[in-house]
Amino acid sequence: MDAKRVSAFAVIAILSLSLLILSAEADDGKTDVKKVKGKKLCRKKEWECNTWSEFCCNETISDVFQVYQFENLFSKRNTPVAHAVGFWDYQSFIIAANIYEPLGFGTTGGKQMQMKEIAAFLGHVGSKTTCGYGVATGGPLAWGLCYNREMSPSQSYCDDFYKFEFPCAPGAEYYGRGALPIYWNYNYGAAGKALKVDLLNHPEYIEQNATLAFQAAIWKWITPVKKGQPSAHDVFVGNWKPTKNDTLAKRVPGFGATMNLLYGDLTCGKGDIDPMNNIVSHYLYYLDLLGVGREQAGPHDVLTCAEQGLFNPPDSPAAVASSAS
Ligand SMILES: *[C@@H]1O[C@H](CO)[C@@H](O)[C@H](O)[C@H]1NC(C)=O
Ligand SMILES: *[C@@H]1O[C@H](CO)[C@@H](O)[C@H](O)[C@H]1NC(C)=O
Ligand SMILES: *[C@@H]1O[C@H](CO)[C@@H](O)[C@H](O)[C@H]1NC(C)=O
Repeated sequence: MDAKRVSAFAVIAILSLSLLILSAEADDGKTDVKKVKGKKLCRKKEWECNTWSEFCCNETISDVFQVYQFENLFSKRNTPVAHAVGFWDYQSFIIAANIYEPLGFGTTGGKQMQMKEIAAFLGHVGSKTTCGYGVATGGPLAWGLCYNREMSPSQSYCDDFYKFEFPCAPGAEYYGRGALPIYWNYNYGAAGKALKVDLLNHPEYIEQNATLAFQAAIWKWITPVKKGQPSAHDVFVGNWKPTKNDTLAKRVPGFGATMNLLYGDLTCGKGDIDPMNNIVSHYLYYLDLLGVGREQAGPHDVLTCAEQGLFNPPDSPAAVASSAS
C-alpha cells in the first residue's frame, strides 16, 4: 500500500468508527446506548444512573419524582415538634437511590410502575418514621420522616448469639435508627458489610447521615432476606413468580408480599390488624399525592398480607433476623 491509500483507508476507518459512536447516542442526547448480546444497555451522561444497565434506558427517579413531591409526602417533618428536624431531605434520597437505580430500583417498568415503587418504598419508610397520631394537624399520614431514631430504647439490642460474626462494640447501642429502622448488632453488622461502612462499631452513623440511612433502607428493600427468596423489590415490581406453595399460602406479587418479607408475623397473616393497616394507609396516601391514585394499588389480597402465609415462619432462622426489625 502506498501512503495515499493508507491514509484513505485510515479516513474511512475513522469515519465508520465515529458513525458507530454516533449510532450509540440515544435520541434524547442525555443517554449513551449500546447493544450487548441483543440486549439494550444505557448509561446516563449526568451522574444519576451513570452505569451501563438496561434500567438506565428508563427515566431516572428524579425524572419521575421531584423535590416538590418529596416535600408533599413528608410535609410535617421539619415542624418544630418533629424529632429529626433538618435531617431528612430529597437530595439524600436521590443520592442514595442512585446506587440502586442501575439494579432496577425506581427504574423498572414504565413511569407508572416507577412511581408506584417509590410510593411503596416510601410508604414503608413513612409508616416506620411517623410521629402522626389521630388528631395531628394535617392528619396522621402527613408525619412521615418525623423520627430518625428510636427515642426511648428499652435495651441496647446486643444479641450474644451472633458474638463471633457480629460482636457488639463496647458502649455501642443498637437501637432502631434509619428510614427502615435497623435494630440489633447482627442487622447493623449485615447492613454495614453490604454498604462497606463500619456500622457494627459505629451504628450512630445512621442517625448522623441521611444518605446512609436511605441507602441502608433501599439495600434492605432490594436484597432478599434469605438466599433463594425474592426481595421486597422483586415481589413488588413483578420479578418474582410464585411457586405452587406460594399460591397455596396466598402469597401473590404486590405490596402485601413486601410487608410479608420485611416484617413477617408482626404484620401478616393476622387479618386486617393495625400495624399492617398503618403501612398500607401510608402507601395509599402517597399514591394519591403522587397523582397515581390509590385505585392503582390493586385488590385487597394484592395490597395487604392479611390472609397470607409467611415467607419466613417464626421458627425459621431467616425470620429471626427479619422479625427483629
Ligand atoms: C424500563 O425497563 C423495563 C425493564 O425492567 C422494560 O421492560 C421497560 O420497557 C423499560 N421502559 C422504558 C420506557 O424503557
Ligand atoms: C454520608 O454517607 C454517604 C454514603 O455512605 C457518604 O458518601 C458520605 O460521605 C457521608 N457523609 C458524611 C458527612 O459522612
Ligand atoms: C412446599 O411446602 C411443603 C410443605 O410445607 C414443603 O415440604 C416443601 O418443601 C415446599 N416446597 C418448596 C419447593 O418450597
